[in-house]
Amino acid sequence: MSSITLRSPAKLNLVLDVLAKRMDGFHELRTIFERIDLCDRITLTSRRDGAIKVVCGHPQVPKGPKNLAVKAAKQLQADFGIKQGVTIAIDKKIPVAAGLAGGSSNAAAVLMGLNRLWRLRLSQKQLVEYASRAGSDVAFFIYNASYALGEGRGEKIRVLPIRVKLWHVLVTAKFKMYTKEVFNHLNCPMSPLPNPCTVWCRGNDNSSQLTNKKDNVNILLPYLRKNMPQSIGSALANDLESAILSLRPDFKRLKNKLSNAGACGVCFSGSGPSVFALARSKQHAGQIKARFDRRYAQVFVVSTL
Ligand code: C5P
Repeated sequence: MSSITLRSPAKLNLVLDVLAKRMDGFHELRTIFERIDLCDRITLTSRRDGAIKVVCGHPQVPKGPKNLAVKAAKQLQADFGIKQGVTIAIDKKIPVAAGLAGGSSNAAAVLMGLNRLWRLRLSQKQLVEYASRAGSDVAFFIYNASYALGEGRGEKIRVLPIRVKLWHVLVTAKFKMYTKEVFNHLNCPMSPLPNPCTVWCRGNDNSSQLTNKKDNVNILLPYLRKNMPQSIGSALANDLESAILSLRPDFKRLKNKLSNAGACGVCFSGSGPSVFALARSKQHAGQIKARFDRRYAQVFVVSTL
C-alpha cells in the first residue's frame, strides 16, 4: 500500500463553557462537539526521500511545520524511526481558521492514515495521545463519534452515544480569527480550578469573577438525547462569543439576521468566525440558506455525521 485517501470532517461546538484559565496558558473547557458532514479529503502517498510535504491549492493552508498535520506526521516519523516520508494532499472544503477545526481534523486523519500506511499498529488510545500533543481539538476526530463531551483543553473526550441527526445552516465570514487571540480577549481568572459548577463569568461591570453559572452542557444534553430542536436551539451557548464580538462587533448583525430567519437557535462555533443556525429539518435549513446565499460567500447546509 503506497497511497491512502481519507475523509476529514469539520466540527461544531453546540456548547462551549470556559471554566478557568490554567497556569499553562490554556483554558479549561467543557464543550459538546458535533461532527458534521462538511469534509476535506486527504490523500497520503509514501515518499522514498523521507520528506513530509503538504500539497494544497488553498493559499491559507500552511505548507510547513505550522500545519498540525505536518507536526503529527513528523512526531510519528521520529518516534518510530520511519525512513519513508509522505505527501499529504489536502482537498480543502472546510473554511480555514474558522472555528470548525479543519486543521485539527486533517491532523487526526493523517495520524489514522499513517498508522495504516506505515503499519504502526497503534491503538486508539495511543493515537489519542499523539492527537492531544498535536492540538486541543485533534483528539475528538480520532473517535468515530457524532457527538462527544470535551474537557480539559478540549482533548479529554467522552463519546456520547447519541444517534440524533441535526440540520444546520453554517455561515463563515471571509476574515480569519485566531484561536489564541480570541482566548486572549477573555478576561478570565487563573486557576486554582473552580469546582465544576463554579465557573468564571463576566460581571455587569465587565470585571471577571468566579460565580455559579449555568452548566450549559447538562442543560443541552437531555434535549439532544430527545431530539428537540427548538429546545436544543435555546440551549446553544458559547462563552467565547463576547471575545469574538469584541474583536468583530459587526458580527452581531449576522447572528441577529440568522435568528430572525426563523432558526431554532444560533451560535458561534469554537473561536469563530463561523455562525450556525439550527434548523428543524433539511428543508427548513434549505429555506434559511436561500436568504443568505446572495450576501455571504460561504453558506452551507450541514448535518450531523
Ligand atoms: O491547542 P490549539 O493549537 O488548538 O490552541 C491554539 C491556542 O488557543 C493556544 O495556544 C491557546 O492560546 C488557545 N487555547 C486556550 N485554551 C484551550 C484551547 C486553546 O487558551 N482550551
